Amino acid sequence: MTLTVSPVTSEFCARVSGVDINQPLDDATFAIIRAAFDEHLVLIFSDQPMTDEQQIMFSERFGPLEGTRGVNPGSGTPFARQSNLDINSGAVIPADDRRMFYQKANMFWHADSSFKKVPSLCSVLTARIVPPEGGATEFASTRAAYASLSEAEKAEFEELVIEHDFAHSRGLAGFTFTAAELANINPARHRLVRTNKANGLKSVMIGVHAKCVVGWPEDESRALLDDLLARATRAENTYRHEWRAGDVIVWDNQAAVHRATEFDTTHHQRLMQRTTISSGIPVAT
Ligand code: OGA
Ligand code: MN
Repeated sequence: MTLTVSPVTSEFCARVSGVDINQPLDDATFAIIRAAFDEHLVLIFSDQPMTDEQQIMFSERFGPLEGTRGVNPGSGTPFARQSNLDINSGAVIPADDRRMFYQKANMFWHADSSFKKVPSLCSVLTARIVPPEGGATEFASTRAAYASLSEAEKAEFEELVIEHDFAHSRGLAGFTFTAAELANINPARHRLVRTNKANGLKSVMIGVHAKCVVGWPEDESRALLDDLLARATRAENTYRHEWRAGDVIVWDNQAAVHRATEFDTTHHQRLMQRTTISSGIPVAT
C-alpha cells in the first residue's frame, strides 16, 4: 500500500488512501498524515469503519482528547454523538424533542469547542450510520478568509480577541438551557488570528460560538465576524461531503469551520461519532 494524499479542491481538503488508520501507525506514517492535515485542514479517509477503541487510538495520535461534558448524549465519555437515535434504546428521537434542537445547532457554521478555555486543535468524525440521502457535512476554510484580507486589515486584526460563548450560539438555535446548565457555561476569550505552528500559515477562529470582538461596539463587532465568515464560505473555499458508512474525516478547528445539513430525521437513521483533540493552547488574554 502506498500512502497517497490527493487534494480535493484547489484551496483545501484532501483524500488520504493507502493506509489502514485502524492499525497502530508508525511515526513516519503518522508524520505524513499530520503534515497533510497542516497543509489541507480537512482529511478524508474512506472504508475505515472504526470501533470506539480504534477511534480513540487514531485520534490520540493528534494529541490529548477532550472529554465531552454537558448536554451532548456522549457526556462523560471521550465521544460526542451526532445522531437522531436515542443513545440507549436506538429509537428515532421525535423531531420536536429538545435533543433534536440541540443537534440542529450543528447546522450553523462553527468550530468545535471554540467556546472552551482551551480550544480544540481538530476533530475526528466517524460515520457509523448514514442516511440514504441528506446529512452531508460542509467545510469552509478560515485560512482562505484570512488570506483574502488586505495587509492593513491583517495588521489591524492581529491583536483582536474574540469572546466565544456556547450559551449564545445554542440560543441562536432556539435551545434553552436550565439554570443549572447555564451555571456551568462560561464564555472563553481567544485571539482571532491563529498561526499554524508547522507552516506559519494564519487563519481566523470564528463560527457561531464567536459572540463578539472584545472592546468593539456591538454592530462593528458583528459586522466583522459576519464578513470573515462570508469570506470563509465563498464557494471556492468550501467543500461538501456526502458521507458513506466507514468514512472518517479529520478537520482543523482553528483554520476551518463546518456545519451539518438536513436529512429526514423521522424516516432515516444517522449516527456520527466524534472525538475532539485539544489544542493545548490556553486562553488568549
Ligand atoms: C460535529 C459536527 C456535523 C454533522 O460532529 O462536530 O458538527 O454533519 N457534525 O454531523
Ligand atoms: Mn461540529
